[in-house]
Amino acid sequence: MTDLRALPDDVTVDVPPEATFLDALVAAGVPIARACGGKARCSTCRVRVESGTDLCAPRNAAESAMAARLSLDDATRLACQTTARGGGVTVRRLVLDELDVRLASAAAGAGGAVGREEEMAILFSDIAGFTSISEALPAYDVVHVLERWFAAAGDVAAAHGGRIDNYMGDGFMAVFPDAPQAVRAALALADAAAQISRYTTAAYGRSFTARTGIHFGSAVVGTLGAAHNRRETVIGDAVNVASRIESANKDADTRLLVSADADARLPASFLRGRTATVALKGKTAPCRVVEIVGERAG
Ligand code: FES
Repeated sequence: MTDLRALPDDVTVDVPPEATFLDALVAAGVPIARACGGKARCSTCRVRVESGTDLCAPRNAAESAMAARLSLDDATRLACQTTARGGGVTVRRLVLDELDVRLASAAAGAGGAVGREEEMAILFSDIAGFTSISEALPAYDVVHVLERWFAAAGDVAAAHGGRIDNYMGDGFMAVFPDAPQAVRAALALADAAAQISRYTTAAYGRSFTARTGIHFGSAVVGTLGAAHNRRETVIGDAVNVASRIESANKDADTRLLVSADADARLPASFLRGRTATVALKGKTAPCRVVEIVGERAG
């Protein structure tokens, strides 16, 4: 049993050998933040070990990975991963801000996480040349066209097992369980855009073409927002990659690009077009992207 003293609360708790510091502090009612629910996927439970460092077990692999990512010094530990082998240890909570703790706790509920990490296919889509369309059309007409487009896009996403997560001007982000559903949705979106294009060409003399990017990866699904306006959304590097792949369509003069990770999950029935290695804004390593032009009928 370890005597664990937590500062600035000045609470001392007994920690059984197999229990983590987080387990013991939560059980004692210490308001320690734990945004990922104790999975070493955040750093909100971090503490500084002020004495008894030698009594703490070495970092496990998960904590080592997070420590390396955030350049944590040796004295800064994740309470959810740290155990000790007896004696007395003093730690200081490093996430102290009451608002942080309250937000994390409210979202986490009874010991849960503020989000869950999931693998998914992320689709970004926008309209080629939309700025010139919106400059040429009266604002109400722009809204009318976008309403048609988003209604069609929502139906397409749902029909392929996905959902629209977010709208950004003329663009949107949708998420799907896997890459084949996302790519089939993207192909259906191209058909939906072609229908709208017939209408916009006839009514306004402007074509309407969707550009889409898809990536498969891990992202956090969390509930975010102010108290009166919270909603589930998807956040993470995979989202940024999908957005940048969508942007890469412009220079590549393509309509649908997928990352190599998404492409690896597609069956041979999908018809590949060009392959390119593109530098994605904000990324050091270039990313291989593959153009998808259709799917062979089974
Ligand atoms: S609670 Fe997220 S790392 Fe410990």
